[in-house]
Amino acid sequence: MSNGHFSDVSKASAFGLDNVVAAETPLSHVDGEAGRLIIAGHDVEDLVAAYDFEGAVALLWRVAGLEPAPSGDDVRRDLGRARMEAFRLVPALLAATRGLSVTEGLRTGFSLLSDEGDLAAHIRTVGSAPVFIAALCRRDEGKDAIAPDAEVGHAADFIRMLRGAPASEAEVRALNAYLVTVTDHGMNASTFTARVIASTRAGMISAVVGAFCALKGPLHGGAPGHVLDMLDDIGTRENIDAWLVREIAKGERLMGFGHRVYKVRDPRADVFNKAVMLLTNGNERVRFARDVETAALAALKAAKPNQRLDTNMEYYTAVLLEALGIPRVAVTAVFGMSRVAGWSAHVIEQERVGRLIRPQSRYVGRWPDDKAA
Ligand SMILES: CC(C)(COP(=O)(O)OP(=O)(O)OC[C@H]1O[C@@H](n2cnc3c(N)ncnc32)[C@H](O)[C@@H]1OP(=O)(O)O)[C@@H](O)C(=O)NCCC(=O)NCCS
Repeated sequence: MSNGHFSDVSKASAFGLDNVVAAETPLSHVDGEAGRLIIAGHDVEDLVAAYDFEGAVALLWRVAGLEPAPSGDDVRRDLGRARMEAFRLVPALLAATRGLSVTEGLRTGFSLLSDEGDLAAHIRTVGSAPVFIAALCRRDEGKDAIAPDAEVGHAADFIRMLRGAPASEAEVRALNAYLVTVTDHGMNASTFTARVIASTRAGMISAVVGAFCALKGPLHGGAPGHVLDMLDDIGTRENIDAWLVREIAKGERLMGFGHRVYKVRDPRADVFNKAVMLLTNGNERVRFARDVETAALAALKAAKPNQRLDTNMEYYTAVLLEALGIPRVAVTAVFGMSRVAGWSAHVIEQERVGRLIRPQSRYVGRWPDDKAA
């Protein structure tokens, strides 16, 4: 390998496509220096106050250029029907996913869906996620799947299908806050994956299966389960500092901290922190998580003074979804249940752009005519 070829791309950042603009989109904007997230023209805090999940999906689809422009009520009706339709696939899903985790099960579930019908495939995909996740979680607990209720909202129906009892208003509000917040987030790894696949005209289902595979990694949407493992492992307040120092010294990454784009606190962490405080009134687990967060930020600052590492959204995702009674094994899938709306809007947008995404690589291997090599 020639160092001459390699030297100008040898910085790690060159391989992570940092700061490379891969699309123009009105769907969302992440300002990593200001700690600001804009989704479809709204600051995330305002979006959460104004919309439930169905309203946010309708907004994203409208902004992506879907015609006729859907309303929140249209989406509510269509997702309700799509959940009913997805329930018919549950026996096949459970048969195909024996021994697989909930995350792997949802990945398989998405691939069972049909790509028939342009908009129908989008509705089908967004609508199926809560049905599949609830059925997979209940199977883990040795329980039968519960049929959807098309008359209740997406968030409420998910909790109902998961636990077999209706959700409280506070729970529905908290889950909607979560689902709305994470619908879209700039050109993150899974959204980029969805757009690359959509650009080959492979269709919505393929784009979502690929995007979900990208999402489930621990450096993306797979972190919250590890956050809860960390809180459990630390266990008591006396252990916090020693545990953090030991893990950082071993070269471990603290899950729920650091972000490629945010160099300050992720604004979504505050939305979830507020939601979990409203839901739990600041119970002991939430107070413990806050203490661990404070200590972790200090430990990271001491160990990595040149890095700007702050709390990312996965930290409070973990705390919020746990408070909602969502099993630890399902938190990544629940992230996917929301982000599928953003992927869908990006697929619509990418298909309108119509241009294959095909970057270049730089060859640093042996040249056949290089006799010295
Ligand atoms: C999200 C993440 C992948 C972004 O990282 P990135 O921009 O690619 O940064 P890098 O991987 O180049 O890391 C830069 C430095 O910060 C350190 N770092 C980054 N996140 C860290 C973390 N959570 N804990 C400890 N150190 C961390 C790296 O070890 C590296 O240090 P070094 O230069 O001494 O080796 C990273 O912060 C991370 O792994 N976080 C933990 C997982 C997580 O919370 N994921 C959810 C993201 S929303």
